[in-house]
Amino acid sequence: MLQIAKMLQNVSSRAAGARHVFSARPVCSRVNFQAVRAASRFADVAQAPPDPILGVSEAFRASTNPNKLNLGVGAYRDEDLKPVVLNVVKKAEGNIFSRNENKEYLSIEGLEGFRRATVDLLLGQGHPAIQEGRVAAIQSLSGTGSLRVGAAFIARFLKGATVYISNPTWGNHRNIFGDEGVEWKHYRYFDAATVGLDFKGLTEDLTAAPPGSVVLLHGCAHNPTGVDPTPEQWAAIADLCKERNLLPFFDVAYQGFATGDLDKDAFAPRLFVERGLEILVSQSYSKNLGLYGERVGALVMVVQDKESATRCLSQLKRLARALYSNPPTHGAKIAAEVVNNKELFDEWKVEMRGMAGRIERVRGELQAALEAKCPQKDWSFITRQIGMFSFTGLSPAQVDNMTNKHAVYMTRDGRISLAGLNSAKVEYLADAIVDSVRNC
Ligand SMILES: Cc1ncc(COP(=O)(O)O)c(C=O)c1O
Repeated sequence: MLQIAKMLQNVSSRAAGARHVFSARPVCSRVNFQAVRAASRFADVAQAPPDPILGVSEAFRASTNPNKLNLGVGAYRDEDLKPVVLNVVKKAEGNIFSRNENKEYLSIEGLEGFRRATVDLLLGQGHPAIQEGRVAAIQSLSGTGSLRVGAAFIARFLKGATVYISNPTWGNHRNIFGDEGVEWKHYRYFDAATVGLDFKGLTEDLTAAPPGSVVLLHGCAHNPTGVDPTPEQWAAIADLCKERNLLPFFDVAYQGFATGDLDKDAFAPRLFVERGLEILVSQSYSKNLGLYGERVGALVMVVQDKESATRCLSQLKRLARALYSNPPTHGAKIAAEVVNNKELFDEWKVEMRGMAGRIERVRGELQAALEAKCPQKDWSFITRQIGMFSFTGLSPAQVDNMTNKHAVYMTRDGRISLAGLNSAKVEYLADAIVDSVRNC
């Protein structure tokens, strides 16, 4: 006992000494600690530029102008310019919650019902390619993640192939293939003089592409131009791909959103399959089902035989395992519930037509307002373009005027998202456009 008491006494007197030492050295401050901290090994990491599309929303949020208008990001808004959750999504979520399902991992290739539904949407239920088992489909992280898995597949199995991307295109295409180390080049697409398709330029560039190249095609509602090939032009592009041995890779981000009809908007990939071509397709439910943040989509490969499909799927799984292991469950369950339930599917089609119809209506109103305010210019391209966007032809200086003077936020390539416009704002936007065209 005595020994223990002595030990405790020693400890406490040492602690008192320690306190004394600390109080005797008040210079041991934060300044001294900082002096010994080494420079960061990341000091040379350069600041990345803001994303040209998502950066527009950041600038919009920072603006205090009460008239501000966000026409940058491609997300649907209702007539009050508010984000929308579709009724069918709410109903599907209700059904899912009532089943009290678990949150276990999905398999690498994703939810079976979702994969089936997604391939059905793309090719049409009962399509021969599905019956013959020559379709490989992997659920992935929406359109972007599906494109990235496709890019990884190209990098690994089509070594040295160049991907031909339309000029202009959705800004992220270059990042996706570039970051995967896949070489990409532009093919001509847009003719500023006609505000239409440069079909001659497209044909020449694809004819000059080396056999074995990949051609990235927007399945419908080309982003950013809103200009799609006609059915005859699609057929000619399919023939060209066949003759030149080019692999078409369709980016289908707007199925049902372009015309309000899921089948019409799948015309191009279906035609290519009909003509005997093998295709890659990335599909997204961001826009047509409004599942933006849930990250719901798939990479689909339609190939010549079942054995190739089986082997390709095994390799897609291998790539996905290292990229993100397995895809998220919730959004895929919603999409599967909507597509596989007849009542919900029919209601979805009505809601989709409603979204596409509202965009078509404000297109018409904007064109009419511009024609009234500036009749010397031809504005008919606005209703000729389809989908979410209009490619206005405004120069970067004119876009700066739109933003700095009128608080209209849009990408510097002159693209506006009509999903961010309502009838009440049409006059304001038309005045801003006319001022920018006349004075900049
Ligand atoms: C042409 C195109 N492809 C792909 C995407 C990918 O979208 P997400 O990753 O949200 O499905 C978009 C989105 O704006 C797009 O416009």
